[in-house]
Amino acid sequence: MSITVYAPASMGNVGVGYDLLGAALAPIDGSLFGDRVSITSSTSGIALSVEGLWADKLPPAPEDNIVYQCALFFMQQLNKQQGIALTLEKNLPVGSGLGSSASSVVAALYALNEYFNHPYDEQALLILMGEFEGKISGSVHYDNVAPSYLGGMQLMLNTQLKVCDSIPSFEAWYWVVAYPGISLSTAKMRELLPAQYSQSVTIDFGRNLSAFVHASYQQDAELAMCVLKDVLAEPYRASAIPGYESAREALDKLGMLSTGISGSGPTLFSITDSLATAQAAQAWLETNYVEQGLGFSHICKLDALGARRIDK
Ligand code: HSE
Repeated sequence: MSITVYAPASMGNVGVGYDLLGAALAPIDGSLFGDRVSITSSTSGIALSVEGLWADKLPPAPEDNIVYQCALFFMQQLNKQQGIALTLEKNLPVGSGLGSSASSVVAALYALNEYFNHPYDEQALLILMGEFEGKISGSVHYDNVAPSYLGGMQLMLNTQLKVCDSIPSFEAWYWVVAYPGISLSTAKMRELLPAQYSQSVTIDFGRNLSAFVHASYQQDAELAMCVLKDVLAEPYRASAIPGYESAREALDKLGMLSTGISGSGPTLFSITDSLATAQAAQAWLETNYVEQGLGFSHICKLDALGARRIDK
């Protein structure tokens, strides 16, 4: 038996929902934008090979790779003796703000769960995904694993009943994402944020996020745009991302409706409902924000499907 699973790139926070909102991405040109994990049987133990554009940025020892660690956990928990061979196709850059580690973890755990006939249900698997991703990013937050696994726009609930649930998104929106080519550690980007916020910032955060969710259900794009503001992270992270502030200004002048930091950066996202404006923004970003040969940009819609088997 051979299984291959694809898990899409994702934007944590989506600007307005620090740690609480996340969305999965699908480039409109149909290009692959996420990691893939394949599993086949082998004679004994766990074998891992890593390939793909960003493979050489991962730790060289298989035991240090999060995909190997996911497999080891599964085998030990289920007391499995047979051998398995895994291949990770690393298609997302690490430390990019595109949920790179989440994509690997989601693809690995989804594939393992399929391979061993679904010992974990959706919620249990999601919790595992959060815990494994947290080993890399330094803390457990579900805003990348949830959308990469379940697709669309996910709102974190973090309750005993449910980790997250999907909320409606705006079909007309294009999400232009641009990765400049440098790597930033999520843990370090989290350290930039204050431990406490003032009462007025707290109220702004609650108001913006709840109004955004309300607007999403009402399909009121104007209201959603009006409140899509990041008062918690962007003020402290923007200056740590080279070129971000001037890009944001330029994208605003080009007519983009809102621009923010994807996850903890350095990838930025910028929204419009016009394909022509999205293309103009992408052209600007390719010339001014993206380092040739190291970075990239995509015009995306949201990936409604999330992680899925692509072997059948
Ligand atoms: N919510 C996380 C953060 C996402 O902003 O630190 C990291 O991709």
